[in-house]
Amino acid sequence: MAASNNKNTAFPKLFIVSALLLLCCGLVFGLIGGLQYIIPGFWRNTLSFEKVRPLHVSSMVFWIIIALVGVVLSFLQQHGTRRNYSPFLLRAQLILLCLAVLLIFISYFRGLFGGREYWEFPPYISIFIIASWILFLVNVIASLITIKKQPVYIWMWLTGICFFLFTFLESYLWLIPYFNRHLVNDMTVQWKSYGSMVGSWNMIMYGSSIFLMDKISGSKTYSHSRIAFLLYFLGLFNLMFNWGHHLYTVPTHPYVHYIAYAVSMTELLILGRMILTWRQSLTAAQKFRHNIAYRFLLFGDVWILLTLVLALAMSIPAINVYTHGTYITVGHTMGATIGINTFLILGMAYNLLTDECREPNRKIIIAGLNLANIALFVFWISLIVAGVLKAAWQMNPERLPYAAMLDSVKPWLISFVVAGFVLTTGLLMIVLPLLKSYLSCYFTSHLFSLRSLNAKKQKRELSLE
Ligand code: HEM
Repeated sequence: MAASNNKNTAFPKLFIVSALLLLCCGLVFGLIGGLQYIIPGFWRNTLSFEKVRPLHVSSMVFWIIIALVGVVLSFLQQHGTRRNYSPFLLRAQLILLCLAVLLIFISYFRGLFGGREYWEFPPYISIFIIASWILFLVNVIASLITIKKQPVYIWMWLTGICFFLFTFLESYLWLIPYFNRHLVNDMTVQWKSYGSMVGSWNMIMYGSSIFLMDKISGSKTYSHSRIAFLLYFLGLFNLMFNWGHHLYTVPTHPYVHYIAYAVSMTELLILGRMILTWRQSLTAAQKFRHNIAYRFLLFGDVWILLTLVLALAMSIPAINVYTHGTYITVGHTMGATIGINTFLILGMAYNLLTDECREPNRKIIIAGLNLANIALFVFWISLIVAGVLKAAWQMNPERLPYAAMLDSVKPWLISFVVAGFVLTTGLLMIVLPLLKSYLSCYFTSHLFSLRSLNAKKQKRELSLE
């Protein structure tokens, strides 16, 4: 398609472009962290694991969050509102988010921490994130013409955005002495907020996937259907109560553990539905196999299934006691954030960035996607096996030395890092061509509009003379 990026549709896409750049940075930090797993002392004095881990995790978390903001704002325009309510709020929101990420990077590089796990940066930076999120909420609500008879994805976006704000604020309650005075209560609130926060960004992401499916298939039947709303309520229920499995090893009230287990098991309903609709999805796959964005959704679906099976196993308290604090937890988190979040969001990014611009080379993108999926599977299995070996060591009554455990997991950590390099190659084969084709289209159309503006100006001046 010709370069016809107009100003209204182009700005929200800048969130996606910024997020893709963050993804590239995150991959580099991940590889450095991986090398530090297998080469003790690697870059210890320049960029120690203490700094690399938060740099990697924050890059990846903000890749997901910032990309989702861009996806929602862009899809909202296509939903029918045509333009976002306030271009000024959009700009302010992007500047605040980028400023927050920049400050976070500077503080990690300088070794300044002060936050908690996953948000290790100095807490004052969170003010920029909160402010930008409030602007996002205002812009989304104000862009909607009406709330009546809206499809399920609008409810999912609104729910996810509100819950993210709520849980983000909740994750900072430890700053208040009333909450941090009592260790068990403090940890309960902390893990509750993290669990629900992931649920809230997943809610935004699943809503966006439904929008994309509607867009690809050209029908809005599913997003208005009863089953879509039923699954939305099940997702909401899980978002609010499915955090308890983080607390199995915390000596809190037993009812918290019982509720956690019961709620986790309701996810079996989602699993059951996936297996039931598997045949249908095969027919759809056949129908839309030429659509690249659809392929991303399909792989995302496979990873939802794999992650759900692992998560359900980890939700069984007797198993959770073993898996806690091992590589299995890391495997679960990375399996979900790469297999589900990254693939689904890349599918949406691909759809949006090629909407008004030429598609990059399809063969390279498909090869990258296949390579990334095979590598991710090896990456994931390696972490799970390493985790099982570590769990066996932790529970061994003979108390074998730590070095013996490290020796037994080393081959699996090496295969994790090698797979990490291949995974990075696969992801870069998708991201770099996509960025290149979008940015050249963006600058060409801007240059073109600038030239035609100058030509008009010259014409006007000549006629005045
Ligand atoms: C899109 C790609 C990726 C995403 C979204 C991602 C995400 C994450 C997340 C969320 C964590 C925190 C896990 C936890 O605390 O449970 C993590 C940790 C980590 N990741 Fe990644 N990751 C990606 C790619 C990679 C790659 C390619 C490597 C290279 C080997 C890598 C190496 C690591 C390492 C070493 C850790 C630290 C684990 C620890 O604390 O022991 N990641 N990653």
